[in-house]
Amino acid sequence: MKNLLSMEHLTNEEILYILDRAQAFEQGEPSQLTKTYHVANLFFEPSTRTKTSFEMAERQVGCTVIPFDAGFSSALKGETMYDTVKTLEMIGIDAVVIRAKEDEYYNELLEGINCAVINAGDGAGQHPSQCLLDLYTIRKEFGTFEGLNITIVGDISHSRVAKSNATALKKLGANVRFLCPKDWKGDFEAVHSWEEVLEDSDVIMLLRIQHERHAISKNFSKDSYHDEFGLTAAREKRMKQGAIIMHPAPVNRDVEIADELVECERSRIFTQVRNGVYARMAILETILKGREQTWQSHTSKILNV
Ligand code: CP
Repeated sequence: MKNLLSMEHLTNEEILYILDRAQAFEQGEPSQLTKTYHVANLFFEPSTRTKTSFEMAERQVGCTVIPFDAGFSSALKGETMYDTVKTLEMIGIDAVVIRAKEDEYYNELLEGINCAVINAGDGAGQHPSQCLLDLYTIRKEFGTFEGLNITIVGDISHSRVAKSNATALKKLGANVRFLCPKDWKGDFEAVHSWEEVLEDSDVIMLLRIQHERHAISKNFSKDSYHDEFGLTAAREKRMKQGAIIMHPAPVNRDVEIADELVECERSRIFTQVRNGVYARMAILETILKGREQTWQSHTSKILNV
């Protein structure tokens, strides 16, 4: 794996390898990296969890984190994404973690960039590191993905979390369903009533409403959304025994989920955040180790050893 751009590019074997390494990190195993790599985090959209947990993960696997402040970078003077990343590469950066508002911004980096690119969210496209931490959380809970009923609820059309998880969970054998208002289903088949999914879901994955990606802010009412599509205390009581609640966060309390459920027994919302560090350590190690092996084999060929 040279980069991590979209869950569509990963095989099941690659996914399961990363989850195994995340588990090893949680159990206290050290990083397998044999040299110090330099990483920069380029966040052109706001982030609390992804940016901070990548920084933590980078330090935990022995990387140095080179500060990059997108809000004070030369991107504001019109520098392209390609020129920004090429510049960092020439300065000595080995890997960049990027979040940007354009879908598939990474396409312009596929030719001519040699440092590793890790997608931390592209517009309404994909969010692969969130997906891998979600998969890690689900596997820790159930030991498998095969046959699980996983219901993703909310703003499906604008959610990169929904798309990444749908791609990966289906490949891994889960039964993925979508519940959302009629206008928000995007390209997916969806149901529009909790009655169809509430009682047999093993995982209910709630999504934040991505107001910033809606073309026009229609007459959105938080209260009516919560009544119709929110996970209320009454609905939580009807969930299957052993079923869990997930949400990538940030959470809008009393919109997609009742305030009192955010830290209830079924909720894994803050566990997901914790798991994010292990998953991101595994992502960084896998990509940087892969490059290490490529360089070693390249050097061996040159030196004929
Ligand atoms: N889940 C997630 O991507 O959160 P942040 O926007 O805070 O990084």
